[in-house]
Amino acid sequence: MEDRPPKAPMSRQQFLEKASILGLGLTVAGTSACTLFDDKEMLVCALEDLKSQDYVIARFNGKKILVTYLDDKLTIFSLICRHKKCTVAYHADEAQFICPCHEGTYDKYGEVIDGPPPGPLFRFKAEVREGNVWVVNEKVT
Ligand code: FES
Repeated sequence: MEDRPPKAPMSRQQFLEKASILGLGLTVAGTSACTLFDDKEMLVCALEDLKSQDYVIARFNGKKILVTYLDDKLTIFSLICRHKKCTVAYHADEAQFICPCHEGTYDKYGEVIDGPPPGPLFRFKAEVREGNVWVVNEKVT
């Protein structure tokens, strides 16, 4: 057995680059997303990937998010219903978020248009860094 020198630990940036090259991630609803996360921020996808799709769904801190361009603005919705915290589904054909629990319905801006939710879907801060889309754990309006 040959002796090999120990490998140097990877920096966060090196890991991100390697993960991106290898295409690491998970597939949710037919879209690729999610390479690395912690509770404060997460790399969601390459900006190019988002531009080639209408939206990307990923998990951030264990909860689903939807990343899209809304009126030419990068927008990240929490997919957690404001009523009793069920996960809403995005229906692209109707441009609506619909909650399966009590049929709460939100428009494409996340505003309530029907049902019991007391307020709009939360949004997270979105940032583009070196060609990648990041979600930051800060709620924005
Ligand atoms: S939990 Fe979504 S409408 Fe009740």
